[in-house]
Amino acid sequence: MKNTFKLFSLLMVISVLISACASASANPAEKNSTGKIIEYALTTGMTDGKMSFIGVGGGIDGVVNPTLSANVGDTVKVTLSSGEGVEHDITFPDFNATSEHVVGKGSNTTFEFKVDKGGSFSYYCIIAGHREAGMEGKFEAAGSAANNAAPIAMPMNNNVASSGPVVVKNPPATGADIVRDPTEIPAPIGDREPQTVRISLEAVEIEGQLADGTTYNYWTFNGKVPGPFFRVRVGDTVEVHMKNLVNSTMAHSVDFHAVTGPGGGAVFSNTMPGEETVFTFKALIPGLFVYHCATPMVAEHISNGMYGMILVEPEGGLPPVDREFYVMQGEIYTTEAFGSTGHLTENTQALLNENPEYFVLNGAVGGLTAQKPLKAKVGETVRIFFGVGGPNFTSSFHVIGEMFDRVYDQASLTSAPLTNVQTTMVPPGGATMVEFKLEVPGRYILVAAPRCAGLFRLLIHLTQNVPKV
Ligand code: CU
Ligand code: CU
Repeated sequence: MKNTFKLFSLLMVISVLISACASASANPAEKNSTGKIIEYALTTGMTDGKMSFIGVGGGIDGVVNPTLSANVGDTVKVTLSSGEGVEHDITFPDFNATSEHVVGKGSNTTFEFKVDKGGSFSYYCIIAGHREAGMEGKFEAAGSAANNAAPIAMPMNNNVASSGPVVVKNPPATGADIVRDPTEIPAPIGDREPQTVRISLEAVEIEGQLADGTTYNYWTFNGKVPGPFFRVRVGDTVEVHMKNLVNSTMAHSVDFHAVTGPGGGAVFSNTMPGEETVFTFKALIPGLFVYHCATPMVAEHISNGMYGMILVEPEGGLPPVDREFYVMQGEIYTTEAFGSTGHLTENTQALLNENPEYFVLNGAVGGLTAQKPLKAKVGETVRIFFGVGGPNFTSSFHVIGEMFDRVYDQASLTSAPLTNVQTTMVPPGGATMVEFKLEVPGRYILVAAPRCAGLFRLLIHLTQNVPKV
């Protein structure tokens, strides 16, 4: 037999999508007034698992996202202080008034603006995702409208539909390698008694390489996407150490789908920058489980890279195979269109609209084709632990030119596997375990495609890539 290597190639499916783009509507109006100066103080914090502004002093003391008010002609003076150390700011977009950022516990900033029109408005934090995570309140301006200059057709919010993201060609940017090596998997546990296992997670916010010449601010577990692959056995007690690096801009946490109990550990592990939390759980059910950050806005933390998997082996372990691989699908939402270069920015509106620019396997474009391909020898048995971080798209997972001998559907290890399956579906926050043996040498394409258009494109690829034997 020839000593030929097989190369499975994981291709990323690309979708360029139309998405709404924020465009600020500014209508400044100057008006002299003899009004009073109204002062408000706000601090920041977490309440009921959500980020919020909290009133300080006066009638708003302790009130979460208090409604602020003033009369037309008044000057509003706002002091914002950081209650928990996470980076924030506050904006009153209808008055073109935005504070400086506050970073670090106790730091504060003050600014003021003139109330030049009446009506009901909102204030919020503009740090990406914070408004959606809860940092928003109302501002009521009483009195006659001083400003009639605004056109009738001015939208009530700032989200004006535009022609969608465009490709931006900035100078190429270089960032850290955040692609998780698909072979980075702990050795099988097999037959041993239950014990206590310590696992360590570290929230790392890092500028990583998304594509050639393109970087993005990832939020990761331990610096790679997905986070580390953990392996325990049923009955083990798992001690989770969750650390958040001191330079983080966000609080982070972890929710294990392997945990039996509300929140999967998220409440106990919500960790401020520079702090560490510890909690333990007992792995009661065997299976392959996703874990992810569960700090609001959860979908944002997931799309930025905070997901991974833990395998809870059944008693006696899994049947032995020659190769095991760890692969996860994710989505990245950028303001700039797919194919842009330079440093790309996060687009939370596109995230809420479920319009990703990038679908990625192990975090980056080409991460598992060019950089870290999956390799096995002819005749070897292969097992893939495949999961979807999401947060929005289901994967149609298959290998072109091969069938799965066994699919542990929905990653259930207590049900009998399906046999001889072409394609299997994996929802966001879900996983599958597949096993197969490849007899014919060549380059195989592993497809994780949430959209039909992507599938067709890759099927054409198949005829070009499977060599004659
Ligand atoms: Cu904020
Ligand atoms: Cu997080």
